[in-house]
Amino acid sequence: MARVDPDCGVTVERALAEAERALREAGVDRPRLDARLMLTAASGLGLERLVGAPRAELPKDAASRYRAMVSRRVARAPLAHILGRREFWSLDLLVTPDTLVPRPDSETVVEAAMTLLEDRLRGWRVLDLGTGTGCLLLAVLSELPNACGFGVDASEAALAVARANAERLGLATRAAFARGDWTAPRGETFDLVVANPPYIREGDIATLAPEISQHEPRLALSGGRDGLDAYRLIVSRLGGQIAAGGRGVFEVAAGQAAAVEQILVQAGFSPLFRRRDLAGNERAVAFLAADAP
Ligand SMILES: C[S@@+](CC[C@H](N)C(=O)[O-])C[C@H]1O[C@@H](n2cnc3c(N)ncnc32)[C@H](O)[C@@H]1O
Repeated sequence: MARVDPDCGVTVERALAEAERALREAGVDRPRLDARLMLTAASGLGLERLVGAPRAELPKDAASRYRAMVSRRVARAPLAHILGRREFWSLDLLVTPDTLVPRPDSETVVEAAMTLLEDRLRGWRVLDLGTGTGCLLLAVLSELPNACGFGVDASEAALAVARANAERLGLATRAAFARGDWTAPRGETFDLVVANPPYIREGDIATLAPEISQHEPRLALSGGRDGLDAYRLIVSRLGGQIAAGGRGVFEVAAGQAAAVEQILVQAGFSPLFRRRDLAGNERAVAFLAADAP
């Protein structure tokens, strides 16, 4: 019997229906939407064109790219890792399995930072600790035309993604990136420090969706036994890095704001305000460094 070519005569309609079924069986949240988004990426055709021509046959190479994408999603790889991008603060960012997928919740940190820097035209110096894709730093710089900043991460692979994002967004002349253990290169001080540290309690990671627990970098997730290890380290190293009278914003998990403020107070910083995300959880903690004596 002749071998059946798996891509022979695959219509848009059939490709979408089969993918949707496989994704639903795998427990994916929005199987239809994900199937459509992957098909537009695999085929290079717009959603309207695909939906408007259900009987059109997919080119063989597009069908095979689509199959590979659907298999990864069935294995619960995050959609952003498969598509290789995610929108954050209206910026189109590259994302890889080496980086945390930027979350809408983290836009709360950017909003809080903007309320702290009233004069948008000043040459603010910004430090982003644990920069990942660079999303926080690049979002802040996109709002402040004369600011420049530093993104620090322990992962060289994540830093490569952050640098590529700065280039793509035309921000590379104002954004530098370096490897560090919660510290920027020596001797520099910053007007604003932002950080979205790993804050999930180690014991909780296995209970999260497979997209997170099995596919996002452990280094980006684990905050140790109580979820607060990274905050303690960051705050203990902040002294030489934040300017006198400088400001900071940390992202926190739901329920962590008071504990993080306590860590800040014990180190001599003054909590300013908390900001809630769209789900109503306290998501960002803003604080002030003491003025110079
Ligand atoms: C929760 S992710 C946040 C990434 C990005 N800022 C965001 O908001 O999407 C935490 C980041 O901290 C980095 N990280 C973990 N340990 C670190 C350390 N000791 N020093 C610097 N960065 C670290 C991870 O590699 C990861 O990119």
